Amino acid sequence: MPADWTAIEQLPATKLTDLFAADAGRLDSFSLDIAGLHFDWSKTHLTKDAVAAFEALAKAQDLAGKREALFAGKVINTTEGRSVTHVAERGEGAEEDVAKAQALHARMRALIDAIDGEALGAIAHILHVGIGGSALGPDLLVDALGRESGRYDVAIVSNVDGAALEEVFAKFDPTATLLVVASKTFTTKETMLNAESVLQWMAEGGVEDVYGRVVALTADPDKAIEWGVDETRILPFADSVGGRYSLWSSIGFPAALALGWDDFADLLEGAAEMDRHFKQTALGQNAPALAAFADLYYAQVRHCETRATFAYDERLRLLPSYLQQLEMESNGKGVTIDGEPLTRPSAPITWGGVGTDAQHAVFQLLHQGTHLVPVEFVAVIEPGDTLSEDHHRQLLLNAFAQGAALMAGRDNADKARAYSGNRPSSTILLDTLDARTLGALIAFYEHRTFVSGVLLGINSFDQFGVELGKEMAKAADAGGQEFDVSTADLIKRAFG
Ligand code: F6P
Repeated sequence: MPADWTAIEQLPATKLTDLFAADAGRLDSFSLDIAGLHFDWSKTHLTKDAVAAFEALAKAQDLAGKREALFAGKVINTTEGRSVTHVAERGEGAEEDVAKAQALHARMRALIDAIDGEALGAIAHILHVGIGGSALGPDLLVDALGRESGRYDVAIVSNVDGAALEEVFAKFDPTATLLVVASKTFTTKETMLNAESVLQWMAEGGVEDVYGRVVALTADPDKAIEWGVDETRILPFADSVGGRYSLWSSIGFPAALALGWDDFADLLEGAAEMDRHFKQTALGQNAPALAAFADLYYAQVRHCETRATFAYDERLRLLPSYLQQLEMESNGKGVTIDGEPLTRPSAPITWGGVGTDAQHAVFQLLHQGTHLVPVEFVAVIEPGDTLSEDHHRQLLLNAFAQGAALMAGRDNADKARAYSGNRPSSTILLDTLDARTLGALIAFYEHRTFVSGVLLGINSFDQFGVELGKEMAKAADAGGQEFDVSTADLIKRAFG
């Protein structure tokens, strides 16, 4: 039976400023501190009644049972008949899954030690090829934390457009490069083609044993062996770790190399702290749950088709792209977990950018456009730069002022200059940006996605929607695909 959203749909649409005026304790009720992260949802339309209504929905959808099943390593990805074990990578899953993850981490750590000890020769550059979940997570980690670690230069290439690789070839020395091939399935066309081109570049650059300079990160080691990688340099991860949830596994290898093992361990521990919070805390005080309630309220009741995340920190510039896959591939579904059509909107479109840049490009629409876009600001108290303090002060003040302006609005007799206000935003403020807080932040996002999926009654862990286009491209490549007139014309124009 479809879940009953009546109570949520009937919540009064009180203005944000009135909610503050009516409740002096609103900030306390709708803010939380956990794992070095401060969450503030007070500028959203969440109320105590709204939380109670969502708690009732969560009960009807058995969120508690499903959360338990997630942490117990039960088969919750039912359409693919798999358990979901990314939490075990952080030590928080079922005992046997945790033991397996730890053994694989030990293997990864040993290979990092060997590379540091120059067992594969003198390596200065790491060229990681992978796509989707096999690139976005490590890229975010390396870009956020590893830029100046001084250990290795890491480049992460995903696009099959050769221009992406050529850019790296121009910077890296082939004789000092380690190729890391990251693919859960080890069949993804883009990744395999990119990997072959890197091998060719290395061979042409004078490397005699190119396969001796390859590491594979995969859930299908046999395929990697077949492709030519030596078994000792294959870092497997469990099939039950989904691609977009895999940065904690060996897919995080380039980040662990760039940061060093201690930082990677901190990343896992930060995530584990968020796991424990999610697992043990009542929903009304539970960060991922409250954030999901706010998201669902806007998407389901206020019919917001998008939600925007703006990172007010250059180090987190890749966060919106990472979130796009996490949220849209997980919850962009049209059927329920029982295979029935979803009668409600699925996840909203995730988009965003970096502040303050975005203020001068897209914020016009956020303040005055006809769309209501819930905004999420992510900022860090401790600066990531060493320039004058004014830079960071301006950065943070801008983030805070945007949230205030969205909510307050401003009257003006000239309608073109008026701001309606009452536009929601939430803020996540990190004390500092390090491996631990970033781990906690990413785990928070994973669990928020999980809660939304459960409340919508969908399976957040499959992704059948990506298959059709892939299959058609493959068939077209083999010359066996009949296309519509328009597509056939485009192919003819491009290839004759
Ligand atoms: O096409 C989508 C997808 O299957 C993602 O879910 C996955 O992260 C990505 O492709 C890469 O897949 P693989 O790691 O198997 O190469």
